[in-house]
Amino acid sequence: MENETQKKVMLSGIQPSGELHLGNYLGPLQHWPAMIEAYDCYFFLADLHTITVRQDPAVLRRRTLNLLASYIACGLDPEKCVLFVQSHVPAHSQLAWVLDCYTMFGELSRMTQFKDKSARNADNINAGLFTYPALMAADILLYQADFVPVGEDQKQHVEICRDVASRFNNIYGEIFKLPEPYIAKVGARIMSLSAPESKMSKSMPEGCVFLLEKPEDILRKFKRAVTDSDNERCVRYAPREKPGVSNLIQIYAAATGNTYEDVEREFDGKGYGVFKPAVGEAVVEILRPIREETERLLADKAYLESVYRAGAERAAAVANKTLRKVYKKVGFLAP
Ligand code: TYM
Repeated sequence: MENETQKKVMLSGIQPSGELHLGNYLGPLQHWPAMIEAYDCYFFLADLHTITVRQDPAVLRRRTLNLLASYIACGLDPEKCVLFVQSHVPAHSQLAWVLDCYTMFGELSRMTQFKDKSARNADNINAGLFTYPALMAADILLYQADFVPVGEDQKQHVEICRDVASRFNNIYGEIFKLPEPYIAKVGARIMSLSAPESKMSKSMPEGCVFLLEKPEDILRKFKRAVTDSDNERCVRYAPREKPGVSNLIQIYAAATGNTYEDVEREFDGKGYGVFKPAVGEAVVEILRPIREETERLLADKAYLESVYRAGAERAAAVANKTLRKVYKKVGFLAP
C-alpha cells in the first residue's frame, strides 16, 4: 500500500463551479504550497462534481482553466506536485460506481451539504447530488491519501469517506488507507461579509470576495462589511456575540499570519472605521500577485494544456493501480 517514495500523501480539490473566493483561499488553498516539499501532493479540479448543479458548458471550461492558472499562481508548482482535472482520469468515475454500492442511503441522507444544496436547488435534486460523497471518497481513496486539507464544511465528507473505506476494508482486507481531514486553525470557516452567520460562498456574491476581483471592488466590500450592533464598537474576537467583527479578525489573522490576540492588540482603541479598511487592504495585498500571475498564465494556454496533460498521466498511473486492485477484489473478470 505504501507509495514508492514513502512520503505521506496529501490530496485535495476545488470545484470550478464558480470563481475562486477568499474562503477557498484562506481556508485550504493558501496552506497547500507549503506542503509540497513534505508530502506527495495531488491537487485537482473537481469538474465532475460541478454538474450536480446545472452548468453552462462554455463557462465551466473557462472556469476550469482559470482555476488551474490560479492553482499555479498561488504557488502550486506543477513540477513538484500533481495538478490535474478530475474528468481526465476516468478511474474517479469508475471507483465512484463501486463505492456507490458500499455507501448507505441513510448515511448519504445525513449529509449537511446535500440538505443545503437540495433546499437551494429544489427543482433539480438529482441522484448525483445525493451520491456526491461517494465520488469524493473515490477521489481520495484512489491515491491512498493520508491527509485531505479542506475547510470545515468538507469535514463530514472526509468522515463518510473513512466510513466507506472501513466498510470495504472489513470485507476485502486492507485495500484503502483511511484519510484524515487536515483543517487549518485560522481560516477554516470564513463567513460572508454581508451575512456573517452564513459561510462565505459564491452563491451569496455580495458578501463574497473573489480572488480575481479588482482591488477597488474588494475594498468597497470590506468597507460595507456588516459589523455588530452592540455598543462596544471595539475589535474583539467573540464569534457568538460579535460574528461580523470576529469574521473580519479571522480574515485579517489568516491574511497576515497573526493570532487573534495580535489583531486585537493592533486595533486596540481604534474603531471599525479604521479596522475595516485595514482588513480590505491586507486582503488586496495578498491577492494582488495571485491575480497578476493568474492573468499572465491564462495568456499561455499551451503551457496550461501541457500541465494538465502531464498531471492526468501521472495521476492515472497511481489511480489505475488502486482501481485494478478493487476490481479484482470485488470479483470482476480481468479484461
Ligand atoms: P468546494 O469547491 O466547495 O471548496 C473548496 C475548498 O474550499 C473550502 N471552503 C472554505 N473554507 C473556509 N471558509 C469558507 N467559507 C469556505 N468555502 C469553501 C472547502 O472546505 C474546500 O476545502 N467537495 C469539495 C471538492 C472535492 C474534494 C474532493 C476536496 C471533491 N473531491 C476530494 C477534497 C478531497 C468541494 O465542493 O469543495
